[in-house]
Amino acid sequence: MISKCLFPVAGYGTRFLPVTKTIPKEMLPIVNKPLIQYAVKEAMNAGIKDMVMVSNKHKNSIKDYFKSCDDLKKNIKNKAKKSPLDELDYIINNCHFHYVMQQQMLGLGHAIYTGKLFIEKESFAVILPDDLCINNSNSVLLQMIKLHKKYPNYCIVAIEEVPTQDIDKYGIIDGKLIDGSNNIYKVDNMIEKPSIEQAPTNLAIIGRYILTNEIFSVLATTKPDKNQEIQITNALIKLALKNKVIAYKFKGKRYDCGNANGFVAANNDLYKNYNTL
Ligand code: G1P
Repeated sequence: MISKCLFPVAGYGTRFLPVTKTIPKEMLPIVNKPLIQYAVKEAMNAGIKDMVMVSNKHKNSIKDYFKSCDDLKKNIKNKAKKSPLDELDYIINNCHFHYVMQQQMLGLGHAIYTGKLFIEKESFAVILPDDLCINNSNSVLLQMIKLHKKYPNYCIVAIEEVPTQDIDKYGIIDGKLIDGSNNIYKVDNMIEKPSIEQAPTNLAIIGRYILTNEIFSVLATTKPDKNQEIQITNALIKLALKNKVIAYKFKGKRYDCGNANGFVAANNDLYKNYNTL
């Protein structure tokens, strides 16, 4: 059973400077809600209550956001049956938030390793909030948790096909389809941000992972790459070589809100349903 989700939120958000000078990229709004709220809601929908933020000292607004909103609720009380604070209030009252500081920016693998303190011995989920996934009835993480019940000893990465020109933005997997009706691949190899020539497929890892606890001992010995970053992909390769990683082509729509195109597309699409958010 997966009870904890880790959110690496310590990054600088350089692609969205200058606004990210003072506003964390995870607090950028898709219509009226910050990306981090969608991410936490997705974890909640998957039955998770312990949210572990791997953060840094410049991201206090994330911590503030998940504090009680009782005062504000009282002040905006009106006749409307539904308050724009309802979902946030529900999250705050039903989840536990834990914060751990990532002291140095040494990559996603390092961020995940920093969360070890709160994870203890179990398997856990990871959501990268700038990958916004929409599937209202069956969230992507919920789909993966169902899969985890069937494959408890495997790390699971969510994947989707990306256009050739985007291959160098992602971790790319190589593998065999082992369950066609459920879109599951056994991963044989992975490569972080390859050139088009190096890429074995166009199956890109998106920001949803279920990781077994073994990942921590592997991360502890994973060397930094040429940019001095410890990549989760490079740790997962070691487990893939031991047949311990599967990839799942999820159902739903993903927006890469780490870049302007995806961010604007998400805002436009979600605005169409704004009244029902
Ligand atoms: C990270 C991972 C990469 C993955 C991507 C998904 O990259 O390192 O393997 O494909 O997230 O969004 P980042 O976007 O942090 O550079």
